[in-house]
Amino acid sequence: MTTTSIGNTPIRRCDFLSTLFNTNVFIKEEFHNLGMSAKDRPAYFMIQDAIKAGRIQPGGTFVEASSGNTGLGITIIAKQMGYQAKIFVSKSCSQEKIAILTNAGAEIEICDNSNGLHDFHSTQFRAQSFAATHANTYFTNQYYNTQNIRAHYKTTGPEIWEQTQGKITHFLCGVGTGGTISGVGRFLKEQQKNICIWGIEPEGSILRHFLLSGTVPNEIKPFDAIEGIGRNFIPGSFDPQQIDTIFQVGKAETIAMARAYRDETGILSGFSSAAVLASLKRYNKEMQLNPSHTVLLFFPDHGSRYVSKLYAETADKQRETVKTHP
Ligand SMILES: Cc1ncc(COP(=O)(O)O)c(C=O)c1O
Repeated sequence: MTTTSIGNTPIRRCDFLSTLFNTNVFIKEEFHNLGMSAKDRPAYFMIQDAIKAGRIQPGGTFVEASSGNTGLGITIIAKQMGYQAKIFVSKSCSQEKIAILTNAGAEIEICDNSNGLHDFHSTQFRAQSFAATHANTYFTNQYYNTQNIRAHYKTTGPEIWEQTQGKITHFLCGVGTGGTISGVGRFLKEQQKNICIWGIEPEGSILRHFLLSGTVPNEIKPFDAIEGIGRNFIPGSFDPQQIDTIFQVGKAETIAMARAYRDETGILSGFSSAAVLASLKRYNKEMQLNPSHTVLLFFPDHGSRYVSKLYAETADKQRETVKTHP
């Protein structure tokens, strides 16, 4: 992508995970992007598309409903191009992300949930209403904007194919809007149709049910949030045709896996990244990975955004150490 440093993020082999799961595990580290997450990619595509189509004039305001990462990408890119940003985040958004968004210059509104456009209290409904009632605003609408999938089809997918020299056999990533898995999945399957495209979502999210049955469950229940992934509606950016399986994991096992990975590697993984790790542990037998495979884990962001949620026991320990060793 152009002037800004978005895309071309590195892929790193992880010896610890390769040994643990008896295969070749590589990690695509998306926190090297400008706004430190994968969501800079759709943010850039959606903004460029709106400007080119004349849907917003210079100085206008981009509006988005976001768990934080898309919002940050939108805010930074908008600012650098002479626009404003108004971001509707759900109250489950981490304090770190809200602080980063505010510092980047976003105007923020905190909403009760991100249940989709049919819920009056959701980030999506409030964002759409705001854009509809304010002049020179544009709702980028990542859940339905075709540029979301396109960004990953045009950039993330080709990067992964090139960086693995076409050896990739499995792609694993968390699913929220579905943009990443749908775009990357489509590109990779066009190169080699046998590549396994596996999504991960929290238990209680309905995307697995939809993938298996083509319907939504009769009863939709609240579930334990893993920031960035899991939905109780079917986003337009979710293309089931590109996905082989969706695995479900729990919040507690995700947190446990984030801490185990940190203890072995010294690296703080993001919340949804840790969910991918939890799926490898829980579904290890079913996945049938072996040393001939090249497994790519998609890490959309970094654990520094979730210190208070994922790694708080370390913070407590540190405070103790500071107290006892002045
Ligand atoms: C941390 C994190 N992980 C995963 C996702 C899901 O990615 P996608 O929306 O492309 O499905 C998001 C989306 O916002 C995210 O912020």
